[in-house]
This record gives sequence, C-alpha cells and structure tokens, in this order.
Amino acid sequence: MITKQEARNQNFLNLSNQKQTEAFLKNQKNKQSHLKVHLDLKCINYTQMKLFLTNRTEFIKLNLPANIKKQEIKVEQPPQPQQCQNQVQQPQPSNQQQFGFVQANQLMPKKRFQPPTKIGEKSKQEQLGQKNEKQSNQTNFEDNIINKIESDIIEIMDRPTQWTDIVGLDHVRDQVVEIALWPLENPKLFEGIIAPGSGLLLFGPPGTGKTMIGKAIASEGKATFFSIKASTLTSKYVGEGEKTVRALFALAAQRQPSVIFFDEIDSLLCARSEKDNETSRQIKTEFMVQLEGATRGGCERIVFIGATNRPQELDDAIKRRFQKKIYIPLPNKEGRQSYFENLIIKEAKEGKRIEMNTSEMQTLVDLTKGYSGADIRNLSREACMYAIRDAAKMYTIKNLKLDQIRATTIEDFKRALQIVKPTVNQNDLKDYLKWNQQFGSYNYDADCLDT
Ligand SMILES: Nc1ncnc2c1ncn2[C@@H]1O[C@H](COP(=O)(O)OP(=O)(O)O)[C@@H](O)[C@H]1O
Ligand SMILES: [Mg+2]
Repeated sequence: MITKQEARNQNFLNLSNQKQTEAFLKNQKNKQSHLKVHLDLKCINYTQMKLFLTNRTEFIKLNLPANIKKQEIKVEQPPQPQQCQNQVQQPQPSNQQQFGFVQANQLMPKKRFQPPTKIGEKSKQEQLGQKNEKQSNQTNFEDNIINKIESDIIEIMDRPTQWTDIVGLDHVRDQVVEIALWPLENPKLFEGIIAPGSGLLLFGPPGTGKTMIGKAIASEGKATFFSIKASTLTSKYVGEGEKTVRALFALAAQRQPSVIFFDEIDSLLCARSEKDNETSRQIKTEFMVQLEGATRGGCERIVFIGATNRPQELDDAIKRRFQKKIYIPLPNKEGRQSYFENLIIKEAKEGKRIEMNTSEMQTLVDLTKGYSGADIRNLSREACMYAIRDAAKMYTIKNLKLDQIRATTIEDFKRALQIVKPTVNQNDLKDYLKWNQQFGSYNYDADCLDT
C-alpha cells in the first residue's frame, strides 16, 4: 500500500487535493488534450472523476508509463469493491512509473453510495450484453449529463426558504422534520429500526406549498437541493433519462447532505401499463432501484421527496416505498389569515402599505375560501398593483417614490377577487381526502380542512 509520504516523495498527484487536481486538469486542457481514463474508454472531467471514485473504489492508482506524456495518464481498470480491498493491500507489481494515487475516502464519507445492480425482466447475461454495447457507444456522454444536472437540476436558492414563510402547515412541519430533517442532521442516530425509509410523498392540489416544503428542508438541513420534474426527464433528456436518474442519485450521494425533490412524480411512476414505451419503463426501473439504494444506506444523508397533484395515479410499488404520504391541503382560515398578516408585515418592510382593520381582514379571509397559497399570492399581487396603477396616472413610473403610492385596501382585494379566481376544483378535493383516508399518514379533522 502506498503511504501518503511515499506518494509525496515520488511526486504523486493526489486527487484528494481538489486544488491540485483542478490545476492538473486545467493544465491538460491548455494542452488541448484530455485526461484519458481507462474507464469505459471515456474522457471524464473532474466532477465525474470524483463521481467515479465515489461510486466504485477506495483507491485508484494512476499509472504513467515512462514513454507516455503526462496528458495521457491512464487509470487502472476499476476493480470490483471486493477486489479493490485486496489490491490496496497487495499492489500489483508494475513496471510502469506510478504517477498518482487517489484516496477516495478523503473525498467522501466512509460509507458511500453504491449504485445497486440493475434489476429487470431481462437475464443477467442479456443485461451485460446490453450494457457493454451501450458503453462502447458512449464517449463523452456522461459529461453532458453531469453538466445538465449541475445547471438545470441543482437549484441554488438566492434566499433560504424558511418554515415561517410557509403558512398553515405547522402539522406538516412536525412530521417532516422528524423523517427528513433529523436524519440529515444526524444520520448516525437514525440507523436500525428508526432508519428513515424511502422518503416522503407530498400530495395535494397545485400551489399549496409542496415545493416550498422541499426547499425549506434543504435550507434548514443545509443540503444541496436537486429539483427535477418528471416531464423534464422524459422530454429534455430524451434517450438519456435512465442515465440521468443514475447520475442524479450518484451526484446527490457525492454532494450530501442532499434533498432530491421530484415533482410530478405521478407522471413518471404511474401504474405501469402496456402503453409504456421501453424508455419510460427503463427510467422507472432505474428510478426504483436508485431510490431503494439511496435510502437504504442508513448513513446516507439523502432525503427523497416526491410531490404530486395526482396521487391516485401512482404505481402501487412506489406507493409502498414512501415512508410517509402527507396531504398538503388548501390553506384553512387560520392559514389564509397568517398569509395576509405576513404579507402586510413584509410589504411594510419594503415601505409599501396595506391597510386593513380586523373586520376587513376577516372579510378577506372568508372571501378567499377555496384559494390555494399560489392563488392568494396572485390575488395579493393583483390587489397591490391597483395602487401603483393609480400613482402612475399622476407620476412617471421612473420617478415614482414609495411615499407617493397610496395604501392598498380591502377594496383593492375585492376588485382583484373578480379577476383572480381559485384554480382548484372542489371535486378534486374530495378525491384527495379519500386518498388520504386510504393511504395518508396524517388524518385531518374536518374543521381543520375548512372545505
Ligand atoms: N402554504 C403556503 N404558504 C405560503 N405561500 C404559499 C403556500 N403555498 C403556496 N404558496 C405560494 O405559492 C407559490 C407556489 O407554491 P409551491 O410550493 O410551488 O406549490 P406546489 O409545489 O404545491 O404546487 C409559492 O412560491 C408561494 O408564493
Ligand atoms: Mg410545485
């Protein structure tokens, strides 16, 4: 086994040193060449290098034969995890000059995500055949996927979402914190019987705060937030869906703590039918496999959250896999009141006035029955615009000062109510309730729902 000291003496490239590796790779780039890695004969970038290391092995030696220039460095064929252990203890004699070594365990926590082997109807032999064929066809493929995930799926929040921003869902908070936040904060504690299951399903009408909950968990858990829509997987990643799923979970393991928020999960994981084409079947299978792997690890700090407006269409298998299924209803009276109270405070901080006495507030709360959080936000935006429009009649917008704008009143909200209507259908609410009674993890009192 190569010690760190030996490595240093022999001028090894230590890939656990990100700066050094990046500098090295940059240097390669300047020379118009790639770091060629003997891994599936693909060129990989630094992120992928880390990903590769994370997934497969503890140590990888980089060999540099004396007659080969630095930019043609090869990495040994990745050994299986079992063999890898042996290899670390008894390095193969090599007449090639060793150039570098990697200690992946310095890049990542000890217990790492191992992508599980693929399951499906096909025999192992067939799977292998299929895989090899695919591998030989792909060259820089993974590069694109990782880049796309980094740019489209990982969401950088300009401002953390706080629980106090989310109104009317305190009971959800209690449930969510227990199963999603605590295991992120102290995964060791959540091993054994209390190990978190495959995550959390949030279901309910659109615009009720499901995405906000996902973001709040990520913000509070200081986690990387991966946000993906099923439709993006099947449309934007045409032909790459399966690989994207695999790369997504691997990247989440690498960047943990991570929250994977999967919106419209129904459209990917709906009951399997004859009509499914091969691609969506493969994505589904891969997804189930990854979900199982990622959430079974005990020590993994990955929280998976699925969101849907159509829980009735979920596959039975996926339904079983979610540890908790929580109904996110329309805001009730208290929720709507909190929303308007928060809004008045927030706007005041910006120097904008919303003036309403207690009975006007009650009127507004009653008039917005059946409105979702998103509907209320749209309504409030419309109401506050009337004051601006009035001011614009007297001043140019460019020179308009905050104190030249009148306060927004209940009359503005009443006008806005004529324009912004509730978007959620009352019949759908009955279906959600029914589904909640059958599968949900939290039972609401009828008056709490205010329907
Ligand atoms: N419970 C809520 N509290 C505060 N704002 C909400 C709530 N629900 C929805 N909103 C508003 O509606 C917007 C859309 O909500 P979102 O979380 O995307 O809904 P969903 O994911 O359930 O469709 C939010 O950005 C927020 O402005
Ligand atoms: Mg949403």
